[in-house]
Amino acid sequence: MKGVVLAGGLGTRLAPLTNITNKHLLPVFDRAMVTYPIRTLVEAGIEDILLVTGGTHYGQFVQLLQNGEEFGLRRLHYAYQKGEGGIAEALGLAEPFAEGEKIVVMLGDNVIEDSIKDAVEDFRKLSSGAKIFLKEVQNPGEFGVAELTGGKVVSIVEKPKEPKSNLAVLGIYMYDNAVFDIIRTLERSERGELEITDVNNAYVARGDITHETLEGYWGDAGESIEALLKVSLHVARKQGMKL
Ligand code: G1P
Repeated sequence: MKGVVLAGGLGTRLAPLTNITNKHLLPVFDRAMVTYPIRTLVEAGIEDILLVTGGTHYGQFVQLLQNGEEFGLRRLHYAYQKGEGGIAEALGLAEPFAEGEKIVVMLGDNVIEDSIKDAVEDFRKLSSGAKIFLKEVQNPGEFGVAELTGGKVVSIVEKPKEPKSNLAVLGIYMYDNAVFDIIRTLERSERGELEITDVNNAYVARGDITHETLEGYWGDAGESIEALLKVSLHVARKQGMKL
């Protein structure tokens, strides 16, 4: 299975820091944010990774990550997203890279500690569908929120004002190759983007989605300046810093 890390967008919630750089290049403790999801994918046994980014700081990703040697990769692939059309639009750029294979997608601002290796192995065995990750949070309204009935996901709402559960949908998704056909059918949301939540709801409608609950730590470092600081502190303390 191939891996895709999505690192585009304007990162307006982290302004003014993102006035001068891409959100995913900002530090989370001692390393750039984008390196965390790359490590998670590599640890899960994914050897072929595409990084999708855009904007004016594209070159800095190549400068920072080069060919992925730091992660034990032989090379890293890059794709350029024109404009800020959303996560699903960025994912659509991965179609030629996927070459018909299933993919594991991570958002470039998501930091986790648990291994997703077993989930990747489980998904590898499935013939079709999607798999998402859920986690209970205090502030579900900041994320995609899943509603479950009988242990199955029956709907996902993006940043709901009145969340139907406290189960956030994490920025880790596994898809079969049908994802690219689904993306072609999407319409832009009110914020003018192709939403990953609409992709996931298309799999819900097909009855072809499973989920895992993440037990360990999850941080969305791109959610706010406060979140960026909290995730950095968490990582630093894990590494023994007395902060
Ligand atoms: C995106 C997704 C959202 C998900 C979140 C996880 O939101 O749209 O469904 O819960 O990532 O990090 P964003 O952070 O791009 O607003």
